[in-house]
Parts: sequence; structure tokens; C-alpha cells
Amino acid sequence: MIYENVLELLGGTPVLRVRNVLPDARSRIYVKMEGFNPAGSVKDRAAVHMVEEAERRGELRPGATIIESTSGNFGKALALIGAVKGYRVILVVDPKTTSSVLSYASSLGAEIEVVTEPNSAGSYQEARFDRVRELLAKIPGSYRPDQCNNPDNPRSHALYTAQEIIDDFPQLDALVLAVGTGGHISGTGSALRQHFPRLHVRAVDSFGSAALGFPFAPYRVRGIGNSWVPETLNIEFIDSLHLIEDGEALSMCRVMAAEEGLLLGESGGAVVFAALAYATAHPTQSVLVIAPDRGENYLGESYDDQWLRAEGVEAEDLWRTREEALRHARAPKHPPTSITHAPACASAFDPV
Ligand SMILES: Cc1ncc(COP(=O)(O)O)c(C=O)c1O
Repeated sequence: MIYENVLELLGGTPVLRVRNVLPDARSRIYVKMEGFNPAGSVKDRAAVHMVEEAERRGELRPGATIIESTSGNFGKALALIGAVKGYRVILVVDPKTTSSVLSYASSLGAEIEVVTEPNSAGSYQEARFDRVRELLAKIPGSYRPDQCNNPDNPRSHALYTAQEIIDDFPQLDALVLAVGTGGHISGTGSALRQHFPRLHVRAVDSFGSAALGFPFAPYRVRGIGNSWVPETLNIEFIDSLHLIEDGEALSMCRVMAAEEGLLLGESGGAVVFAALAYATAHPTQSVLVIAPDRGENYLGESYDDQWLRAEGVEAEDLWRTREEALRHARAPKHPPTSITHAPACASAFDPV
């Protein structure tokens, strides 16, 4: 297959069936590996769609500057798009962004601005936004994709990610997806609910994230969660929520590496753990998770025992075996809750 440029490698990501880490011989858990996109994550789809729609509307002109706040993967995607399409790209990141993400983006020519201080609530995200606003005011003709407010973010997943899932699955019972901007859960959730009317959609968020209206408190897992409710999150198609502790996500990454040979990113660990908890309660159902990126983004951090220790996490406290994962999946730290009414706020979630 011959391609004209690297962005054409977008999409068509593989789906892996989990073989060993299953609660029951009848269980079917599938992992759609978004890390196979050209810049290595689920955000590539949203970034390409947002940029191409902005070009089409005339909001983004040749040679202009793209400025965005990003925890990493969206920035990698923009850096790649900038290099292919000839845009200057400025990424505003914070100290949680991994060194591999930063080297990737700067190797492609993106400029990096690091916000070193969180705001008074401990949120780096809002401090990053302040810096983005300053840069936009300073650089004429600059464009901000604004991933948390841009409807082209969820739309990219409704148009493309969902269609790939429909092509791969004649039948599907449950979708277990991470929430960050809400882009991929809102887009795929809405499109797949039309196709599979009885599909159960479970959101996976970090304990401490405010994306679904809970009070914000700092957490470690990257990519997942938010410090406010993003515009791009639509809870209409979400049936239940599983809040994950950092230790559950990081442990699941270790288990999947040891038991399945699969190096998941941190949020991938979170969704696979949530899928295992779901499958424990619904052993005959087919469950699909989207692994937003790959473990390669975290080799020098959460896969590194010394780095973890410096962060206050003892690697010995993480579980590594199928048996431990199953035991924890039967009794997760925060039992999943069902959504009983709109709008998005903590009171919309009741214990199941
Ligand atoms: C690693 C990772 N996981 C999960 C997410 C959440 O995806 P979304 O923004 O579509 O909700 C992101 C988004 O940046 C991510 O990079």
C-alpha cells in the first residue's frame, strides 16, 4: 500500500481480543488499539478533523500558527499535522507531560511552553489555558483548535471511529471508554447507540476528575479526566460511570504487559480494568474498550519502578497477575454507578 503522506495512515486501528485476563470462559473483551494511529493516539482523529474543518471554513490559513493546551497526545497529533501541512505549532503543556511526548513533538518542530505552576485548586489545565489565551492575543492569525469546546472533536469519532467499530462487530453489548474532553466517548457513543440500540456505554474517569461534575482533586493518570465539565462531553449516551484510582490503572497496565504482552498507556489500563469489572458482573456480554494510546509513551515514567518510587508509588504495591486483577475487578475501589437523570452533575450518578 502506497500513501502520499503520513496523515493518510490515520484510522483503521486494530482490535485485539483479550485471551487470558478474563473473569469467565464466556467473557469477550476486545481492545481497539488507537496507539496505531500515525502520532500514536486516539487524538489523531480529532486533531486531523478539527484542522481540516478549520481549513475548509477559512479559519486556518496556510502558514498560520496553531496554539493549543494539551496534556500530550493532542499535542503530538498537532505537531505531526504542523510538520506535514506547514503550520507553526505551539503547545502549552505542564510538568505531568511525559518526556517522550515532549521529544516527539519537538522533533517534529513544535514549540513547547511548559506551565510550571498549577492554579490555586491544584489544576495545571486552567493555568495552561491562561497561557494559551495570552499567546493567541499576541500572535496574529493564530488558530486554537480548542479540543474541549470544538464539536469537530466528537464528530470525528462519530464519523470514523464508530464506523470502524460497526465494520468489525456484527453485535456488541457494551462500550467502556475513557473521558478526557469526552470526544471519543460522545462521538462513538452517539453513533453506536443508533446502530446497536441496546448498547451499554460505560464512562471511565479518574477519581478526582471533575469532568462529570465531581469536585476536582489531583490524580496521576494522564490523558483521562478533566478539571471541569468539557463542552465536548455529551452524557446523553452514557449509562454508567466507573471512577478509577491511579493504582488500579497502573496495576492493570502491569498485568496486561505480563499476561497478554500488551503495553497499554495509563488510561488504557484504566479502561481495561473497568471492562474487567463490567465483565465480572456481565460474563456473557461482549465488551469493547478503546485503548487511547500505547505504553511506549510511559516507559520512562509509570513503567519505571524508580520513577514511580520518586512519585511516592511503591511498584511492589501494584498487582501483576491475572488472579490479582480479577480479585480487584470484583471489588473495585469505587463501585460503578448508573446515570439516572441529566444534566451532567455528580447527583446524576446513583450506585448500581
Ligand atoms: C491517553 C489518553 N487517554 C484518554 C484520553 C481522553 O480522550 P477524549 O479527549 O476523547 O475524551 C486522552 C485525550 O487526550 C488521552 O490522550
